[in-house]
Amino acid sequence: MRNVTPDNLTDIAAASFGGLPDARQRELVQALVRAMHAYARDVRLTHAEWRAALAFLHRTAAITSDSRSEFSLLSDVTGLSSLVDLMASAPDTTPGSVLGPFHTVGSPWLENPANLVGANTGEVVVIRGQVRSVDGTPLPDATLDYWQNASNGLYWQVDDAQPRDNLRCQMQVDAEGRFEIATIRPVPYEIPTDGPVWSDLVEPAGRSSWRSAHAHVIVSAPGHRTLVTELFDAEDPYLDQDAVFGVREALIGRYEPTREPALCRRLGLSGESCPVMRFDISLAPERPG
Ligand code: BEZ
Ligand code: FE
Repeated sequence: MRNVTPDNLTDIAAASFGGLPDARQRELVQALVRAMHAYARDVRLTHAEWRAALAFLHRTAAITSDSRSEFSLLSDVTGLSSLVDLMASAPDTTPGSVLGPFHTVGSPWLENPANLVGANTGEVVVIRGQVRSVDGTPLPDATLDYWQNASNGLYWQVDDAQPRDNLRCQMQVDAEGRFEIATIRPVPYEIPTDGPVWSDLVEPAGRSSWRSAHAHVIVSAPGHRTLVTELFDAEDPYLDQDAVFGVREALIGRYEPTREPALCRRLGLSGESCPVMRFDISLAPERPG
């Protein structure tokens, strides 16, 4: 390996990882080396640019902690997170969308129908739907893990004024795969603007810092691929400028004024009508093997 040249370097560097014992890891690392070299050749990367990129990554690492990953944000704003979500989505099923940084395991299990309103201010709404397999069969064993922000835009983890576990729950669907959640209408909020991803990349590009209003849900069912996705609001002003490319047409629902006294009673809501969004979910069967 003493005669390294621009022509043989990429092959030599990729081959140097040939000893990685896991075949998939070997494929990932070798392809990454080739992609990085191809990029550097393509843009004719200079020393100054390479140093600036490393300095950016150092600053990205410096602001990252257990409760805040600037690297996830980098993946989100460059569309990489959404690309991975979309590649994992099977045709004719509900598309995936970004997990985001505010999912934490261990949400409380609530009875279905669930009421998350508690002491929150904001517009009381209902989200309901049915979980089915892609062939239309209802999935009565499905579970939901649901979380959203409060009316000040913040998730409970970053807002001392909110009680622990505010506006999040896990729940089991009913015998027909149906679920009902009374909650407050999620509002748009900004991605973190105190780190290098915002100051060096997103802001100078003239891009929006806003995430379109959404609720997150992870849907799991035996024999099916777990879906991580989001529900968007057809009336939200940021649908066309979501900072992390999470919006998909199939994920946009509309809160329709609905008069249904029995629904309000079931969910413990006062009055006989409320805005209801219908959000049906279609899951793909697990891949064979
Ligand atoms: C979120 O949806 O919670 C989120 C996603 C990406 C960046 C920041 C927040
Ligand atoms: Fe979110």
